[in-house]
Amino acid sequence: MRTSLFLLLTASALAQTPRPGVNYDEAKVGNDPLPDLKLTTADDWTQKRRPEILKLFEDQVYGKTPADIGTPKFEVTATKSDALGGLATRKFIHISLPNHPAWPGMDVMLYTPNAAKAAPCFVGLSFGGNHAVSTEADVPLSTRWMRESKEKNIIDHRATEATRGTESSRWPLEMILKRGFAVATAYYGDIEPDHADGWKEGLRAAVSKEGANTVRKAGEWGAIGAWSWGLSRIADYLQTDAQIDGSHLAVIGHSRLGKTSLWAGVQDRRFGIVISNDSGEGGAALMRRDFGETTAIITKAFPHWFTPNYADYAGKAAACPVDMHMLIGLAAPRPIYIASAAEDHWADQKGEFLSGKFASPVYALFGKQGVIVDEQPAIDTPVGDFIGYHIRTGKHDVTDFDWTQYMNFAARHWSK
Ligand code: GCU
Repeated sequence: MRTSLFLLLTASALAQTPRPGVNYDEAKVGNDPLPDLKLTTADDWTQKRRPEILKLFEDQVYGKTPADIGTPKFEVTATKSDALGGLATRKFIHISLPNHPAWPGMDVMLYTPNAAKAAPCFVGLSFGGNHAVSTEADVPLSTRWMRESKEKNIIDHRATEATRGTESSRWPLEMILKRGFAVATAYYGDIEPDHADGWKEGLRAAVSKEGANTVRKAGEWGAIGAWSWGLSRIADYLQTDAQIDGSHLAVIGHSRLGKTSLWAGVQDRRFGIVISNDSGEGGAALMRRDFGETTAIITKAFPHWFTPNYADYAGKAAACPVDMHMLIGLAAPRPIYIASAAEDHWADQKGEFLSGKFASPVYALFGKQGVIVDEQPAIDTPVGDFIGYHIRTGKHDVTDFDWTQYMNFAARHWSK
């Protein structure tokens, strides 16, 4: 009894132990003013200001997505019409680039509800691969590089049978399909493995003239850019599938993949709804706030996610010509949802809320309301109209509560 109480206390004390040098004191977040959105009219925003800000994000943060990568090829490799006990049809689609055969391509898993003709669809990348998202035993195991993990039974950088379903709590497929939505997903490492040299075996090297000898230049895309590109190729395929309502696609992602869904969503307007789940630093959290992870920490730990210029703002976020309220504003007037988790201080929940709050004036240009409220709402209390926001009980994760809010949000906007 005594020992287990002791262990419990130690574990929770550890979980709350601030990392050295990381600020968790609201009084010390700093008060650098945010860059001015320079709003005038909706037309001016669309024609002039939005492209200017998008370019700043390309130059300074994520890098520019090359325009001339080539036409993707889609091959439906398997179809099962009675997946999930008859609830859904499951398809696998291999997406490749015939003019860049060095890229191994990506395997999309698509579940469409059998009860619907053409379903609206959530589109998102996974951390663990299709076999980790689904609990169905006949989903092919990914053979790609993965981060070593004892807990998830990833051995020698490869998935094993024991990794099946390890991400399924983050993808409540039955719940989503029962509400009439489809789900399209792929392993993010199919596009490019997530480590500093991953680009050499991934998309970025495959499509560049110099291949793996490329020296990354200022303004060139990082891994988040490459993963975002992959999301847009899934959208390309979905436009061709009769079981999907291609005009109702929502892009979704968690954490680093939430940063990715934001960047994919602002670049590709076919994503009618953009969802950021606990995206934190380099995602929805304002970079000027020194709380939890900072620009200095993220560019040191994950330089490959961003364009090289982004590291120039390590320790001087205030010098960056953009902040994340501008990223959220780039989605306007499309609905966007930002979610935080109460224990996820690393992601700076308040900074995530504030980017939505300070992006709301962009929506006002279009006669639409953003988050509506001035203060971060109480836990488990979703707010907002065209910018949805909640902070839910619990840790850095994707839960049924999160999905319920996203589906409510999509149902509300898409029934209008
Ligand atoms: C790290 C990183 C975060 C990121 C997270 C994740 O914690 O510092 O920026 O969001 O990994 O993707 O899980």
